[in-house]
Amino acid sequence: MDIITTPSYEALSKEAASYVSRKIQENPHIVLGLATGSTPTGMYEQLIKDHITSGTSYRHVTTFNLDEYVGVRKENPNSYYAFMEKHLFQHIDIQHNSTFIPDGMSADPQKECNIYEQKLRKHGPIDLQILGLGANGHIGFNEPGTSFSSSTHIVELTDSTRKANSRFFKDLEDVPTHAITMGIASIMEAKEILLLVAGANKRQAYEQLLYGEISEDFPASILKKHPCVKILADQSVLDTSSIIA
Ligand code: F6R
Repeated sequence: MDIITTPSYEALSKEAASYVSRKIQENPHIVLGLATGSTPTGMYEQLIKDHITSGTSYRHVTTFNLDEYVGVRKENPNSYYAFMEKHLFQHIDIQHNSTFIPDGMSADPQKECNIYEQKLRKHGPIDLQILGLGANGHIGFNEPGTSFSSSTHIVELTDSTRKANSRFFKDLEDVPTHAITMGIASIMEAKEILLLVAGANKRQAYEQLLYGEISEDFPASILKKHPCVKILADQSVLDTSSIIA
């Protein structure tokens, strides 16, 4: 794993965006894997700026999002569909039929998982997968204990993840209990992975990722087995005892 630390969240966001933008310029038909959540929002902001000022085009780009809540309508501001519209898609020239997000309102969520995997096979492999890190080590919504060989599946969210995500909802009870997520094996099929880690609440998870064992109890640990992972971490995740030069 290639690790880069940045002095601030802003610097991390700029660094991530310039990396992604470079990749798009090298391959305008790139397939990107995208994450939602707080960590990548700064990167999306920078990508929008770059699109406006430098003209980086998404006309031929295809995107796959990692996950979506089950039972949340697209129009609901808390859906990941709405998140992507707000933070990226509505600001760039991407073709909407080239953006894929699991359908959390499918009448048959299991079937939706199979369809999503088929789409990944048809349009993939993902060239560059962006990931955030859950405080409990989850990637996508693959919670601790998820099989490393999992493909896209339905997951019951842990109490800690629901609590962490409740900051976006009115009440904890409003946070969905289930989600559809790309599996660990689906994520590992990406040719390259860019993991973004920011915020003091990720300190412990970051340390475990760097120094812990590879175990299904800590899903992100599988990334150590991927041949091409870049980690961008901001200063706030670094304990003074574990500063990486
Ligand atoms: C989001 C996702 C999650 C988040 C993780 C970190 O699509 O798949 O794994 O990346 O929960 O979330 P933030 O960035 O909000 O701390």
